[in-house]
Order: sequence, then structure tokens, then C-alpha cells
Amino acid sequence: MNTSLVPDTETVTLLIDADWWRQATVYQVYPRSFADANGDGIGDLRGIISRVPYLRRLGVDAVWLSPFYPSALADGGYDVDDYRDVDPKIGTLAEFDEMVTALHGAGIRIIVDIVPNHSSDRHAWFQEALAAPAGSAARDRYIFRDGTGENGELPPADWQSIFGGPAWTRVPDGQWYLHLFTKEQPDFNWDNEEVREDFRTTLRFWSDRGVDGFRVDVAHGLAKDLTEPLPSMSTLMDLTGPGENPLFDRDEVHDIYADWRRIFDEYTPPRIAVAEAWTRTADRRMRYASPEGLGQAFNFDLLQADFAAAPFRTIITENLALAEASGSSTTWVLSNHDVQRHPTRYGLTDADGSADSGIMQVASKAWLLAGAPEDELDRARGLRRARAATLLELALPGSAYLYQGEELGLHEVTEIPDEDRQDPAFFRNKGVEIGRDGCRVPLPWTHAGPSFGFGDGGAHLPQPAWFADFSVEAEDADPTSTLNLYREALRLRHELQTDESLEWIETGRDDVLHLRRPNGWESVTNFGTDPVALPPGRIVLASGPVAGDLPGETTIWIAPGGDEGGAA
Ligand code: BGC
Repeated sequence: MNTSLVPDTETVTLLIDADWWRQATVYQVYPRSFADANGDGIGDLRGIISRVPYLRRLGVDAVWLSPFYPSALADGGYDVDDYRDVDPKIGTLAEFDEMVTALHGAGIRIIVDIVPNHSSDRHAWFQEALAAPAGSAARDRYIFRDGTGENGELPPADWQSIFGGPAWTRVPDGQWYLHLFTKEQPDFNWDNEEVREDFRTTLRFWSDRGVDGFRVDVAHGLAKDLTEPLPSMSTLMDLTGPGENPLFDRDEVHDIYADWRRIFDEYTPPRIAVAEAWTRTADRRMRYASPEGLGQAFNFDLLQADFAAAPFRTIITENLALAEASGSSTTWVLSNHDVQRHPTRYGLTDADGSADSGIMQVASKAWLLAGAPEDELDRARGLRRARAATLLELALPGSAYLYQGEELGLHEVTEIPDEDRQDPAFFRNKGVEIGRDGCRVPLPWTHAGPSFGFGDGGAHLPQPAWFADFSVEAEDADPTSTLNLYREALRLRHELQTDESLEWIETGRDDVLHLRRPNGWESVTNFGTDPVALPPGRIVLASGPVAGDLPGETTIWIAPGGDEGGAA
């Protein structure tokens, strides 16, 4: 089914290029839902290895692997039992090495997810802490406190965890431990030198195995001010106020990343890192992206924007300026494993016909989304807008982080029965949040067969019938498919990404964005519904049909060196 431009067997030698990440296209693999080689219903490393030719044909520069560590999956693998091993349900360390070799041989770099804010409650250190007395060295690696109330029967503070429910859980001897997420995810104490040293060991462990970088989970959470009395907070993640939050985005956190930077720089090329950091302001986010720190930070601004020209232009302009000032490059994200897929977000219409971004409850809680009511979803329109937004995203300076399945134009799966759901956000917030399972349903590779080619067994989350039409097999054969649009865009993007700036060309229309890169590449997006005249130039790619004019909700790319207008 893959008619690759490069033979699958040809091995590529990765150049030593310290800047490879600045304009890279990074493809996020959520391993348990990508491809299942052993037919047990859960995606695995062998499955990823088998799909390396697919990733190469897609044209991505790097893969970011969500957690693959041993885990009871209380939070989709973000509850880690052992930071230096592979979950036996997914594979082995030897298979991990094989996967790195296969990706590198295909010219694809690999970034792994690192989860330093909390471990799982099955981690050897947490088990040791439970068995040890209050005040012991074992407890000091986590955040244990005595309770309040007459007999310590009340938690140390009234904090609610990010997934709902109390952020403190009591252990049999009466103490309480802090968990900002589920109770199976106890928070580490980053004032403890053993914790710091253990993460240094982990960073070297994976760097020595050839990984090219790290995605740092909850990067803004490690440094905490737990000076007593602990303050009362209505919401932990209230990052909007002017004051300091005791739990998030504290200045001291950057000492940790300066320390990590020294480790990254021990390698050639230096290992890279990208922070998941939710901060009060965009300029505080860029502190994580400093070359003396992690080097790059996720910018989730587009992911939270309406599909409209004005917010897109403001976000793009501001983030390019911030990136330049910080010495980093910016990042762009439209979908990931925590949010509703972007065709669905853009297909939810409200009364005035504009995309409803109200599904994002507050910026800092973007992963806790309400469901997508089927009767309010215009699937075709959502996909049309998503393709247009993606083509604009891919024309921008900086790196683009894509989420598995977005290259197929997958919508969120809304039809998952309650009894099949897995996300703790659903269980801890029942009735309020539908959770993130809808974007984590195993990928459809074939239009028929068991689990649509995901594996020979079932799929660990139910796949809907409409997956058939969105399968890799179906889209591979259709030149107008979203898959073939992504392939062509990623191929052209390698020509387009030669510098890190752009200029806006005024169009006289407030629903049209026209940008030009210094090398002459242009991208024009019509966010509105009325057609607009085509600009001069050689159109080499379009997110939808173009004939005579530029239809609504469509993006075109214009290549340098040609002035004839016309359809792609
Ligand atoms: C990850 C989520 C995870 C949470 C706790 C987030 O930033 O992206 O998937 O549930 O951290 O680890």
C-alpha cells in the first residue's frame, strides 16, 4: 500500500545538526493506540517498528513517544512505575533499541516523554515510603504531611486535584500525601537531592540509548512552595491572577532545567527538550524555552483559538516575536492526546456559526474537555477547516507537533460507552467531563478486518464504523485524502522552512491571512465563507478544491518562481 518515494530499505545517516529541532515536524505516537503487533489489543513497540516506513513516507522529522514505561495505566501511562524500563505489555528494552535504530535508519529522530512531577503509586520509592514511618528519608522523596482537624482527619489543605476530587490522600498511619493528578500519581519532592539525582540518571539512561530528546510533562509543576500554613485555593491551576501560585511556574523550577541542560549538552548533538508548561503569560512560558533551560516549550495558543483570522494572526505574530527574543523557535500544536481532535473542535458550531472554543473550559485545563454532542457537529465543515488550519500551521516558522491520526483527518470518537472509558478525568469528574479517550482510540490502518488493521485482536477502546473511510488504506488510494495532503505538505515543508520569519501581506479582507516567507513561499488562508480572488503565483498545494477563486475555509500554498494564478 505504501508507494514510498524512497525505498523502505534504504538507510539514511542522520547528520549531526544541533539545530535539527528548530523547524522540525514532530509526530506524536501514543504507543498503546498506534499499532498492535502481538494482537493483544494494546499497541506496542513492534507495532511502531512495523510502521516506520509509513512514518518515513509521511515525511516527519521526529517521533515523540508518549509514556511507554511500566504502568498500571491509571492515567494512560503518565503514572510511571519505573522510569528506566519498558512496559512488558508494550515491549522490551531490546525492542526499544531496535525501534530507535529503525527510526534513525529512516532519518527520523526520537523524543521520549519524561514525567518528573509524579511517579505512580507502584513505583518502588512510593512503596518504600508507605512502608516507612512519618519523617523518614523514604517519605521525604514525596510530599507527605500531617492532616489538620483535631486528629489530623482533615487534609493538609483544601486543594482539589486537576482531575477532580481531593489532591491529598490519607495513608494508614494517618499522614497524607499530595497528588496533583490522580491518587495513583504521588507528587515528587523536588527539594530532595535523591529525586534530582535519579532524574539525572534517567536522562542519561535514555540519551545513552540514542534518544534525541525529551518532552517534559507538567514542566511547570516541579518546584513547589509548601511553607505552612498551606493556603486555601479554589482551583489549583488558577494561573490567571497576578500573585504567585505555590504549585506552578515558580522561578526556582528553572534551576532544575539549568541542571538538565548541562546533561543535554554532554551529548553530540545536544539532546533537546520541549516543556509542557502552563503559565500565566506567554513570556513566562518562554523562560522554559531558554537555551540555558529546556530549549523549547509547547505553545498551545492556536489549539485554544477560534478558527478565525484575527486570533490566528495575533497568536502567530506574538509567538514569533517571543521565540526570537528567547533564542528558541516557536512550536505549533493543533491536536494532542489531551484535547479534542481539531476537526471536531472546528466542526462544533454555535448559534452564530463560528467555531465554539468554549469547549476549552479554561486555558490551563485544556485537557479536560466536554464531549462533542453529535447533533452540534458538522463533520465535513470541521474537516475542511482543520485541513486549512493545518496547512497554515505547516507554513509557519518553528516546529509543528502533530498527533497520530490527525494526518487521516480523524474526528474525535464520541460514541464510547461509559463502561469502556479509561480516562481518570471521566471517572473523577463524572457527568462534567467526558475525558480524553475519544482522541486515543486505536488508529485505523485498513478499511476492514479486525480492529481496522490496528492488530489481529480487538482494540482497547472501541473503534466506530466510520473509521473505515478514514483508514490509511482508504486514504492512501485517494489523491484528495487528508493523508495525501499531509504527505505533500510535509514534503514541500522541507523546501519552505529555510528561515524563521514571515511577513504579512495585507489583503483588505479581515477574514483572509496571507503570509510570505523570505524565500518567497506564500500561504493564503480564507477563514471566511465567501470566496476571494486568487493571488498571483504558482499554487502548489491547496487544502481543498480550488478553481477560479479561493473558496472559504481553504488554504493554498504558493511556491516561489512563477506568477501564473491557478488551481493546484
Ligand atoms: C499530560 C496528561 C497527563 C498529565 C499528568 C499532562 O500534561 O499531557 O496526559 O494526564 O500531564 O501526567
